[in-house]
Amino acid sequence: MFLRNAWYVAAWDHEVTRELRPVQVLGERIVLYRTEAGEPAALEDACPHRKLPLSMGRLRGDEIECGYHGLVFDPAGRCTRIPAVKRVPASVRVRSYPIVSRYGLAWVWMGEAAKARPETIFSVGHWDDPCWGKNTGGCMTVDCNYLYVTDNLLDPSHVAWVHRTSFGNDACEAEPVQVTAAEDGVIAARWMYDTDVAPFYVPFVAFKGRCDRLQHYEVRFPSHAIIRAVFVPAGTGGYDRPIHGQAALMDSYNFMTPIDADHTRYFWFQMRNFFPHEEHVSKLMDEGLRGAFTEDKVILNAVQQGFALNSSPHIDLATDRAALLFRRGLGQRIAAEQGAAAGAAASDRPAAGRAPAGM
Ligand SMILES: [Fe+2]
Repeated sequence: MFLRNAWYVAAWDHEVTRELRPVQVLGERIVLYRTEAGEPAALEDACPHRKLPLSMGRLRGDEIECGYHGLVFDPAGRCTRIPAVKRVPASVRVRSYPIVSRYGLAWVWMGEAAKARPETIFSVGHWDDPCWGKNTGGCMTVDCNYLYVTDNLLDPSHVAWVHRTSFGNDACEAEPVQVTAAEDGVIAARWMYDTDVAPFYVPFVAFKGRCDRLQHYEVRFPSHAIIRAVFVPAGTGGYDRPIHGQAALMDSYNFMTPIDADHTRYFWFQMRNFFPHEEHVSKLMDEGLRGAFTEDKVILNAVQQGFALNSSPHIDLATDRAALLFRRGLGQRIAAEQGAAAGAAASDRPAAGRAPAGM
């Protein structure tokens, strides 16, 4: 089950080129390419004639020529040529998806095109701020349903066991998490006081000694997360207190794209307020985070298998509250969307079969 009226990351923007690139999003096959003017384009990856993927054809200017019988489609999805056919019926077309380049990513809108508004794409703070650095980030395919990934990203406690040598320490095991249901998602957060700086962050923190640490885990509908880490000198942290001048801040952006019900494409990059222009810091972060996310991937692949292969009942813990709230909120939005779609389809349907009035 997916929310369709939403933006999802289809690829890195630099992956959308003059080569046809097949991807799969929410179970739909899409071909990506770039027009000669540099605009990204996204079409249904199936010729309406014999359903050959258009990505097996070739680009001719801004149009794709099918590799089977030469039908040609423009970026809007219209068929502009059928060899040996004089007049192409307007009904011959493929679906064209709204697509926008932003933050180095190519975002596709999977719902009704008329509802696509680029201003609703997940907002990345400090993107153009010269005092903040960014790393190139990465992506991977996780062999699990995307909701196991959103579960993971609303669960600060897992770092104590899954990321023992990087993000975790003993404080992560015990401190309770505050959960907030927001309009656009769910936040799980906690301050931990007078604790050690977690190993991953030690090279980046400007102050010496122990710290107060904020873990802010936030996932917004449909499946996009910001994980904010704050480290300040011990005794200076806490809710409703100004951020200390020596604070190390890292915003980790995580965008999950369901490939289908059992596979997820996971894109990420980080923004930071320390060593903004140091390339080696970006490289260290890229390597460290890929290592940590690979630890998550091993767990999540196995969780998917665990649920698939075991029919015995499972339990939930208090630490699952944020994840369950998110699932519930998303489920309500999906149900509302599907209800609206079903209602629209019913009102489109001709009244055939109903008894005429008066009989
Ligand atoms: Fe993790």
